[in-house]
Amino acid sequence: MFDAGRIAAFSHQETPFYFYDITLLQETLDTAKRAADEYNFRVHYALKANFNDRVLHAVCRTGFGADCVSGNEVKKAVEIGFKPSEIVFAGVGKSDKEITYALDQNIFAFNVESVQELRIIDAIAGDRGKKANVALRINPNVDAQTHHYITTGLDENKFGIAQWELGEAIETLRQCRHIELIGIHFHVGSQITDLNVFKSLCIKVNELNNWFDERGFRLHVLNVGGGLGVDYHQPDATPIPDFRAYFAIFANFLERKPGQEVHFELGRALVSQSGSLISRVLYVKNGIKKNFLILDAGMTELMRPALYQAYHQIERLGQIETASEPIHYDVVGPICESSDCFGKEVLLPKSERGDLIAIRTTGAYGEVMASRYNLRNEIRYVYSDEI
Ligand code: LLP
Repeated sequence: MFDAGRIAAFSHQETPFYFYDITLLQETLDTAKRAADEYNFRVHYALKANFNDRVLHAVCRTGFGADCVSGNEVKKAVEIGFKPSEIVFAGVGKSDKEITYALDQNIFAFNVESVQELRIIDAIAGDRGKKANVALRINPNVDAQTHHYITTGLDENKFGIAQWELGEAIETLRQCRHIELIGIHFHVGSQITDLNVFKSLCIKVNELNNWFDERGFRLHVLNVGGGLGVDYHQPDATPIPDFRAYFAIFANFLERKPGQEVHFELGRALVSQSGSLISRVLYVKNGIKKNFLILDAGMTELMRPALYQAYHQIERLGQIETASEPIHYDVVGPICESSDCFGKEVLLPKSERGDLIAIRTTGAYGEVMASRYNLRNEIRYVYSDEI
């Protein structure tokens, strides 16, 4: 990922910054698109993973739709050039203002997360003389076997309509004249690496697809969400996730009824490996028990390690002095919190002030989760085709 030319270009840049490898991004997007097209599957990219303009332009040009979770994300998608007919709007807490805006943009569909929300969308659509397409997000109670903060499809999670509420949901739908039920929607969690989880999801979707069919609802869309994980431990060995294996699960186990489309909402898998956070060592503290590398990037630039104890590979860029032994460092940021730590006991070549450090696999849920805590600078970024 980082050859001598790239490192030389970095050395002139102010740090920290997000580096995006535009070539790898495009290869990843093309690979995913080809794999999805094989089965006629439609992917709406989850903007929440990364809404950087360059990233979004590449996603849009490749032919993906947009999965948005706020009015601002819908607005962003429209501005970038996603067709409104290829934008879906999800989220447990859509405000009236956001619903109105999305209706006025004539987006493809709302993924609705409660019976109450159905009534609100119906009322707003009625006021505006519109008919809203909706997919019901159903909580399938399937365990994603991932970090509990990013598990979403269990009964204890706040997301979606529980199965015991479905009777009330269809009664409500029968009363709502400004809503068209087009499908059912699921999302069980993120960073899922065991593909059997998706097989369990398919079995659940099939059951519910039949349930709606038996009650006279003809669903056009089965939306199975996102969640495909990436390899944080070996970013160079697996720069592109195995999209063929992922889509094949749904092709093999999902029972589509005639005319039904299958939709996906991938985020992380499409963008993660093409991003790295590049930082400089500010200070090296050699303690009695620990050695610390204090970086100019912190949890304000990359929140995942502090929030989920997430692992990201850390590399020192540049020449390695072969004579000296590698050293265990705690790699930390400058923020006034003990959780501001990117990795403990990380084995790195002996480092000094000014060395460049890359924190890998940060293209998803990196830049977008940044904060201004400690009144930090705005995030900077560098693109591979501009250096
Ligand atoms: N669809 C829905 C309804 C979602 O809630 C999500 C992610 C996605 C699609 C996209 O999932 P993906 O393909 O990216 O796994 N900040 C956390 C991840 C939160 C994921 C939230 N929902 C992290 O840094 O790991």
